Amino acid sequence: MAELSKSDESQESTPNVSEVEVVDAHSESEAVAAIEAPVERGEPILQVRNLVKHFPLTQGILFKKQVGAVKAVDGVSFDLYQGETLGIVGESGCGKSTVAKLLMNLERATAGEIFYKGQDITRLSGRAMKAVRRNIQMVFQDPYTSLNPRMTVGDIIGEPFDIHPEVAPKGDRRRKVQDLLDVVGLNPEYINRYPHQFSGGQRQRIGIARGLALNPEIIVCDEPVSALDVSVQAQVINLMERLQDEFNLSYIFIAHDLSIVRHISDRVGVMYLGKMAEIGTDEQIYDHPTHPYTQALLSAVPVPDPDAREHRDRIILTGDVPSPANPPSGCRFRTRCWKAEDKCAEEVPLLAVPERFSGVDTPAAHESACHFAEEKDVVNAA
Ligand SMILES: Nc1ncnc2c1ncn2[C@@H]1O[C@H](COP(=O)(O)OP(=O)(O)OP(=O)(O)O)[C@@H](O)[C@H]1O
Ligand code: SF4
Ligand SMILES: [Mg+2]
Repeated sequence: MAELSKSDESQESTPNVSEVEVVDAHSESEAVAAIEAPVERGEPILQVRNLVKHFPLTQGILFKKQVGAVKAVDGVSFDLYQGETLGIVGESGCGKSTVAKLLMNLERATAGEIFYKGQDITRLSGRAMKAVRRNIQMVFQDPYTSLNPRMTVGDIIGEPFDIHPEVAPKGDRRRKVQDLLDVVGLNPEYINRYPHQFSGGQRQRIGIARGLALNPEIIVCDEPVSALDVSVQAQVINLMERLQDEFNLSYIFIAHDLSIVRHISDRVGVMYLGKMAEIGTDEQIYDHPTHPYTQALLSAVPVPDPDAREHRDRIILTGDVPSPANPPSGCRFRTRCWKAEDKCAEEVPLLAVPERFSGVDTPAAHESACHFAEEKDVVNAA
């Protein structure tokens, strides 16, 4: 993982000058925080198997009749290992946020399993679910709408303690919240301020502090920096990397921006229309993609070098993304794939290491849901 460029907090659009003071000495340490460290894989902390979420489509006002279903997530499987970051990318509407909500139990799965340390959490409820939920937290996309404007920062960050008082007994909460503000690089004295008194990057730090409050092992980040300026994105990403090292966190990092996902992720999953198209290490996915959809995504990344731009083999996808209420038979990508053959309409390609690469020592030997998976040179600027 390379270090993102660090810039001064004051470059962020700030509603008032006093906010510039809020970020403290952590800023410097963030600049050197991203350390190249190979992730040692043991048992996965999270195993997702054939996860399905269908939202019913209904007709009628008094007597609602189901007339179909939006197949938002339709058989997604992946593992998450302790201390790693799994990036999830894909076009708008492919089901990324629905996967995040299923992991958080904010939506009930239609089918499939989510194993947390070997225990299927899709079937849990009550106290057992509460205990597991403590270990899986979420950071949301929009720091402007995800924080209650009527609550002080102290109340926002301390809110999880109402549900889990065992983590911070009443008399200890203020100190705990101030510690959390300090950990995310905010001045602990601003505990009584309201969200509107902070800038976007600072609000996202508050969201991260809230996510950390219960000492979770996994944080699901749904587009955590998409709403921020580029310079502020770098600061928040660097903060997240520092916290990951400090607390041995595992991240699921959902984003549109392929460069940011590459920077932060150890492994990357590419989703298309409710399914996982390809999954592998960042090097396998970015430098040796074998699924035509990943190849098309990477070939669309803007290339700053004019020479490389001229010689690149840009793949232009034709057609719109089909409706998840009526996905194509066989391979879901076939209506836009330049390699599609009859088999692609008849057989659903499984997410697996392609036979031709099986047992071969090549970065192309990673899971890809394509009947004709093969490497293709794409100039990759991500
Ligand atoms: N509660 C719901 N009821 C019906 N359909 C839904 C619901 N939530 C999501 N969907 C549909 O499920 C599909 C996947 O949505 P999701 O929000 O997971 O996509 P996404 O990949 O996160 O997109 P984006 O990148 O725009 O955030 C979309 O077609 C969406 O319209
Ligand atoms: S299975 Fe067929 S349609 Fe699907 S990505 Fe591979 S070649 Fe294209
Ligand atoms: Mg989303």
